[in-house]
Amino acid sequence: MEPSFWHEKWQLQQIGFHLNQVNPFLVKYWPHLGLPENSEVFVPLCGKSLDMFYLAEQRHTVLGCELSLVAVKDFFTDNDIVYQESRINDHAVFSAEQVTLYQGDIFTLPSQLTSSISGFYDRAALIAWPEEMRQQYVHTLAALVPADVSGLLITLDYPQETLKGPPFAVSPTWIETYLTAYFTVELLECADVLADNSRFVYKQVPWLNEAVYKLTRKS
Ligand SMILES: C[S@@+](CC[C@H](N)C(=O)[O-])C[C@H]1O[C@@H](n2cnc3c(N)ncnc32)[C@H](O)[C@@H]1O
Repeated sequence: MEPSFWHEKWQLQQIGFHLNQVNPFLVKYWPHLGLPENSEVFVPLCGKSLDMFYLAEQRHTVLGCELSLVAVKDFFTDNDIVYQESRINDHAVFSAEQVTLYQGDIFTLPSQLTSSISGFYDRAALIAWPEEMRQQYVHTLAALVPADVSGLLITLDYPQETLKGPPFAVSPTWIETYLTAYFTVELLECADVLADNSRFVYKQVPWLNEAVYKLTRKS
């Protein structure tokens, strides 16, 4: 999607993707990665997700990247967190004790900024891209994740012709085809979540699967 699409969504607060709770798959599977305290964790396309609080509660240092200034400011102000502002090239940097958010385009985020991460977490980032941009995103993510680093990826899959994304459907076959060049991929769980998603029920989407994968960057 073009940046203007997302800027408008945040301006109008049309942010149905934002959850008012921590993602249950994150809580269930993050411990599976076995990351020690003080690890740096990268959250691409982070929005103002409360999942970053969960990661901070695990005593990780969170590095997020988000295009929208509204989202980044809301993350700190909604949660009464005092932050400092600075700048690195194309990105504004908003930092608090355990969370640093790089506000700007992930496609221009310098890979030095994520060179010390020990984990990453992609929820509603891969599936935010239409097919033609998704491969470019995978390439960028792979450049930002150092060798042997693992993370969780959460996707949705449904018959794409029944609904206009985002979120876009990403099938296990797509993951197998486009991610295995960069990552080893392990499917941890796939659940039918149609009943919990009224937009999909309303549009008569016949099925909706949410999957969580463990990805490990190949050397
Ligand atoms: C579907 S939302 C998911 C947000 C978050 N991961 C969550 O779970 O709530 C996708 C987010 O990606 C951001 N985004 C879109 N394009 C981006 C880009 N090129 N660089 C950084 N962030 C981007 C949007 O502003 C939006 O907040």
